[in-house]
Amino acid sequence: VSAPLRNTFGVDARAGRLIEIDDANDLPALFAGALAGASPLVVGGGSNLLIVENPALALALTSRDIRIVRGHIVREQGDGAIVRADAGVEWHAFVLWTLEHGFAGLENLSLIPGTVGAAPIQNIGAYGVEVGERIHAVEVFERATGAFHRFDTAACAFAYRDSVFKHDLDRYLIVAVEFALPHAASLPSSALKLDYAGIREELTAMGIDAPDARTVAEAVIRLRRRKLPDPAVVGNAGSFFKNPIVPLAQAEALLADHPRLPVFRGAGDDSRKLSAAWLIDACDWKGRRSDTGSGDAGVSEQHALVLVNHGRASGAELLDLARRIAEDVQSRFGVAIEPEPRLIGAHW
Ligand code: EPU
Repeated sequence: VSAPLRNTFGVDARAGRLIEIDDANDLPALFAGALAGASPLVVGGGSNLLIVENPALALALTSRDIRIVRGHIVREQGDGAIVRADAGVEWHAFVLWTLEHGFAGLENLSLIPGTVGAAPIQNIGAYGVEVGERIHAVEVFERATGAFHRFDTAACAFAYRDSVFKHDLDRYLIVAVEFALPHAASLPSSALKLDYAGIREELTAMGIDAPDARTVAEAVIRLRRRKLPDPAVVGNAGSFFKNPIVPLAQAEALLADHPRLPVFRGAGDDSRKLSAAWLIDACDWKGRRSDTGSGDAGVSEQHALVLVNHGRASGAELLDLARRIAEDVQSRFGVAIEPEPRLIGAHW
């Protein structure tokens, strides 16, 4: 049956048919039979999708098991365990589960919308940590062959908002993810990642002078609540654009003209990552609304990188706004910015 398609942008979307799978072991029979040759859109929390055209077929994995598969592993930074979560587990609920069970490692990734299964695809990252750094293995189902595979971290080819899965979205379906997490109790406080702008200040404001995984999670939650619009209040998909990576020489030339442009390392020696938010803000897009269509597509007042749906914006209206922003950044700074969410029924 046709079904509404949940998406945090709050775009009115439907799937011609939505199939919910509770047990991944049913996948081989499904793809050998009813879904042979089909390419359903696999949906998790719908937090990284811009639906421009309704898909004919969508599939959701609904199992939500979390378990410790190996209790004792030795890590460089204290002992830990391998924790496995089904793809359908909500990401933030999983982060909270790990903290409640005495694990560290995911605290900087608190409050990110979406599911565990979606996290590796774009290698979600925030506040100085990318999920790929904590992943031990990703379990996938290969649609064409009907086989299950296990990708170790190297095979996942994690990079900034990128992985092997992102390039082969129709080939693999992620069914579960294994994380290698240190026990919070054995983690030296020096292993906490506190360097990203704002974290230390937030901990100080909270009155914490000896932070641990739980208090860092709390600081990140407070920062995100303040800086990013809540999709439950106004539709959005987090950062709409990736921070662009440009050759070092271009970054230096831009810096000479615009000394306040935030430029980050971490993209190799010969390139630099620029703040897309700053570039968009400098083009005066922050807080603006589109003057076409419903007029409900806009740029968040809180953060220039976040497109928002004030009510009735369609996927096409949001995409049109995104294109106008990217054109402005291109013509003003000579930098190409690209969307972070997956576009359904459209190409960038
Ligand atoms: N800035 C502006 N105007 C704004 C907002 C920010 O000029 O409206 C400038 C400021 O100079 C600020 C800098 O941009 O210091 C960086 O901003 P922020 O710390 O918010 O980080 P970001 O690079 O914009 C990235 C991730 C976010 C993640 C934050 C925190 C990407 C595309 N985005 O944003 O991830 O939460 O860092 O780690 O890498 C997401 O992917 O959906 C997401 C929200």
